[in-house]
Amino acid sequence: MTTESTNIDALLREERTYPPPPDFAREANAQPDIYRRDPDEFWETEGRERVTWFTPFEQLKQWDPPYAKWYLGGKLNVCYNCVDRHVEAGNGDKIAYHWEGEPADTRRDISYADLQREVTRFANTLRKLGVQRGTPVAIYLGMIPQLPIAMLACTRIGAPHTVVFGGFSAESLAARMNDMKCQILITQDEALRRGRPVSLKSISDEAMAAASGVETCVVVRRTGTEVAMTDGRDVFYDEAAADQSDDPASCPCEPMDAEDLLFLMYTSGTTATPKGIVHTTGGYLVGTSTTHHYIFDIKPDTVYWCAADIGWITGHSYIVYGPLCNGVTSVLYEGTPDFPDKDRWWDIVQRYGVTVLYTAPTAIRSHMKWGPEYAQRHDLSTLRVLGTVGEPINPEAWIWYRDHIGGGRIPVVDTWWQTETGQILITPLPGVTTLKPGSATKPFPGVEAAVYDEQGNEVGPGGGGYLVLTAPYPAMLRGIFNDPQRYQETYWSKYPGGVYFVGDGARIDDDGDFWLLGRVDDVMNVSGHRISTIEVESALVDHQDVAEAAVCGRADAQTGQAIVAYVSLKGGQEGTPDKLAELRDHVGRKIGKIAAPANIVFTPDLPKTRSGKIMRRLLRDVAENRSLGDTTTLADPDVVNEIKDRATAEAAKEE
Ligand code: WTA
Repeated sequence: MTTESTNIDALLREERTYPPPPDFAREANAQPDIYRRDPDEFWETEGRERVTWFTPFEQLKQWDPPYAKWYLGGKLNVCYNCVDRHVEAGNGDKIAYHWEGEPADTRRDISYADLQREVTRFANTLRKLGVQRGTPVAIYLGMIPQLPIAMLACTRIGAPHTVVFGGFSAESLAARMNDMKCQILITQDEALRRGRPVSLKSISDEAMAAASGVETCVVVRRTGTEVAMTDGRDVFYDEAAADQSDDPASCPCEPMDAEDLLFLMYTSGTTATPKGIVHTTGGYLVGTSTTHHYIFDIKPDTVYWCAADIGWITGHSYIVYGPLCNGVTSVLYEGTPDFPDKDRWWDIVQRYGVTVLYTAPTAIRSHMKWGPEYAQRHDLSTLRVLGTVGEPINPEAWIWYRDHIGGGRIPVVDTWWQTETGQILITPLPGVTTLKPGSATKPFPGVEAAVYDEQGNEVGPGGGGYLVLTAPYPAMLRGIFNDPQRYQETYWSKYPGGVYFVGDGARIDDDGDFWLLGRVDDVMNVSGHRISTIEVESALVDHQDVAEAAVCGRADAQTGQAIVAYVSLKGGQEGTPDKLAELRDHVGRKIGKIAAPANIVFTPDLPKTRSGKIMRRLLRDVAENRSLGDTTTLADPDVVNEIKDRATAEAAKEE
């Protein structure tokens, strides 16, 4: 495979190494002997120490592939662990979140005691509106304090949630609410994006029109703009909450079973319908808090900032549940990195004295593009750990991050994991690991990973292959909601014997360090977000003028991958710039702007095999300007030359 071998060549040239700074290593939460701990002992001990159980667990795990259970018999409450116990321990005054609104003058410090009162009031309000233990709740909110508050309120009363990222369309929101059979939706009047309001309420209205199971819509006021309210269905949060108590005793934390559903997070796969990834209570909380503690080296005075959105798994695990369980002080930022100016992040780091920053390679590349002068305007000397997640990080970006943000002195941890895994799995430990730019290094203690070839043999050092996980771990997914067959097929059918197929290519070097090589299936990674080719194709074909569409990813310096669509229009119509804009818009409306193709190439035909299968490999070659491989299996080899000419003409126009 051409792409894979280029990757490997490029990586082999990367020989720089960075051992942990000695002072850091001495004081680090994780010491070298952590890797010698037995996996069962590790998760058993962490399970007892990190989490407070109402009833202790009786059995560590039960592994009946492909189904795992952890901490069997244990009873706990996530909200109790994330909020109440910290207040009870005398830390009520400690800041849980420094909330920073996008308008630079909107700020709020929320202590653990504040959080406890607000969560209680929210939970009481949900109960008044009919939410009970087990009632599925949809949450469609931007990065405002009420987002973690609403999630915690759900966990307090035992109601599972699904948070839908605020950039998703009405149709995506409706599909998720229908799949989970949500009876209630929590949204806000408007969100702010780069100073402009986005009406989440009107998108919610459109979604609810297609999701008739939703009986109640709670509207949090963010901008205070007037929005249409449907009588008998919609209520403003502040009005509904006005008569509700915020005394924690008025709404005790529901004891939940370790294996009760905590939330669903929908993610793209190789078919058009997103998968509802199932995460449960006990193992998820232990997995996220344990990894958070060791990987980010959390200390009592840590000021931690994960700059992701809570609408993705990274925000669930490492803005809400992991950090709050560890009682840490976090930053919660509503806006974009370049509003009002490109130094906004560095202003935040300086003002709050941030010590840990966790972000995505795509964001780092934006900062690189803008130049280091924005960071140089601010004092970033409080930082002591930097992290990345979401896609493979190019060594140049890694070095830039370490030098320009980390002052060339602090560890950068490249953390590999997935929506499905719930917790970080392959990662350096900042006080132990010798870092290599571009490598996620080693499986976390208690985690077992390997690289297999097509036949399921372990590939030795140096060889590329498929990343697999060979043992269960606490936060792993428990299934795909309502679809056991798809669960089996997607993750467990490639290799027998309870081996989890990740869908990423990887290579292990002579030191046993892992290098991630990107997706091997039809899932694209745009700015660290997974989008399946088929989902975008379905959205395109849904447009009345489109006969056929094929979509692939091409390498993009900024976003990692960019989406390229090849579209043939009905009745031999020729594409026009207007049509192009219309189609991008259409995909944006169907899925969300993030899925709108960067390029659309109009073509009378798509390259197909004689059996009618679209040859995506060729389309990828065209998109990435490579010489075309074997085209002899094509039904009509001319088609691809025609496409190539058109793509070249398109590219020339853009320049
Ligand atoms: C990719 C995000 C290389 C990978 C937490 C994975 C990475 C997918 C890394 C999951 C990394 C994530 N290095 N690739 N450090 N982190 N990925 O579900 O392809 O949104 O399978 O979870 O992102 O994306 P997801």
